[in-house]
Amino acid sequence: MLPTKNASSSPPIRDLCAIVMAAGQGTRMRSDLAKVLHPLNGVPMLCHVLDLCRRLGVKRTLVVIGHQAAQVREALAETPVEFVEQTTQRGTAHAVLQAEGALQGFDGNVLVLSGDVPLLGAPLIERLISTHLKARAHATVVTTRLPNPQGYGRVVRDREGAFRGIVEEVETTAAQRRITEINSGLYCFRAPRLFAALHRVEPSAIKQELYLPEVLPIIRKGGGRIATVLAEDSREVLGVNTRAELAEAYTIMRRRIVDRLMAEGVSCLDPSSLHVSELATVGRDSTLYPNVHIEGRTAIGKGCTIHAGCRIRDSHLGRGVTVLDGCLILESDIADECTLGPYAHLRPGSQLKRKAKVGNFVEVKKSVIGEGSKVPHLTYVGDATVGNRVNIGAGTITCNYDGFAKHQTVIEDEAFIGSNASLVAPVRIGRGAIVAAGSAITQEVPADALAFGRALQVNKEGRAAELRKARAKP
Ligand code: UD1
Ligand code: CA
Repeated sequence: MLPTKNASSSPPIRDLCAIVMAAGQGTRMRSDLAKVLHPLNGVPMLCHVLDLCRRLGVKRTLVVIGHQAAQVREALAETPVEFVEQTTQRGTAHAVLQAEGALQGFDGNVLVLSGDVPLLGAPLIERLISTHLKARAHATVVTTRLPNPQGYGRVVRDREGAFRGIVEEVETTAAQRRITEINSGLYCFRAPRLFAALHRVEPSAIKQELYLPEVLPIIRKGGGRIATVLAEDSREVLGVNTRAELAEAYTIMRRRIVDRLMAEGVSCLDPSSLHVSELATVGRDSTLYPNVHIEGRTAIGKGCTIHAGCRIRDSHLGRGVTVLDGCLILESDIADECTLGPYAHLRPGSQLKRKAKVGNFVEVKKSVIGEGSKVPHLTYVGDATVGNRVNIGAGTITCNYDGFAKHQTVIEDEAFIGSNASLVAPVRIGRGAIVAAGSAITQEVPADALAFGRALQVNKEGRAAELRKARAKP
């Protein structure tokens, strides 16, 4: 599930490990799904944090799991991390302590991150690390200022502004509640100091939980240095505890991606209604109309136009492709200068060659549509190979399923399929053949043949007029 974005240009930070806390249930989400597995722009929230660790070049990443541990392991099956289990969730200090065994003998620095703070960028964490190293600190914490600090731990400082400690909201006095500098839940520690302090954390007065920020005064009182780093943009350290915060995080992430696309030369007619995956690319001079969703690893070439209300997932579009309104395109490959829609559905495994046209209310599945071929209206093409410069008339159906198995249809170059034909697969239409409108084709049509697969028409001269007359009599 881990997205593989380009690695950061910064060199690997040697002797740095990371612990990512992800064992909590996330009660405030009111969900059967563990909080860290809730998708944020199509990827579990936790994966955004782990991807950052990978881009930073962290030596080892330990993920603390507990609630729905099996599901979290499964979601991270492809991700190079190590797991440590916290069987009962007794608080963030207790969570981090579970990594002690795995880090036995490690005396470098350790980043501690939260699986529910997913909008972090590498520059902020690089600043955390460089401040920590420069200040020769034993512990460094990222803080930010929030006009409404509700729900966060407050940073308490003395009169000189020196760091004193962090008070969780439930434990605050009325005066402390007014403090706007908050703990973002991101830290860098010297590992031996961290674990020594963790053993000394006492359960909190009100909730009886073991709070990680409590290690900071313990380290300080033991003669350790504490540094702080202020995140200028508080949106980057947004913690997701509720569905409303998850939506807020998505809005911020979505806007960042759309802004990047515009900076790269993509026209976005209504940025507020565009949804683009972090892994997608869009070529310059492409235009995205309102309400377009571009998901997964979609790559869209230069000069494409995607009209309103389209959803494109894990697909490749060449240059100068026009997708008219309301199309759904899944796991498909579309070559240069193709036209789609309005209201076309490309199901997985569809391949359109150059200048192909798939038009109004057409469904294509696991099929190739050749160069310059046209399927303009109301058609189903499934399990078919369509050659070049083929014309498929309105209402044509490839009858690919006989109730037991799927069968192939082959339509060779320059064939012409009349409207409302049923091509009963397996079947082949030879090169340059013509299929008469309304035919049910059950046998091969040789090249250049004209096939009629319908009952012959009978005309009874004058009979309609007679019937009318008979009806009109009293
Ligand atoms: C925490 C901080 C708070 C800070 C805020 C920033 C503590 C006590 N408080 O509060 O100061 O302002 O983050 O977002 O640390 N977790 C475990 N095991 C546990 C408990 C939690 O792994 O026993 C994990 C959760 O899955 C989550 C992270 O730790 O990913 C943070 O826990 P959460 O309960 O969300 O802490 P906050 O109340 O947000
Ligand atoms: Ca939180």
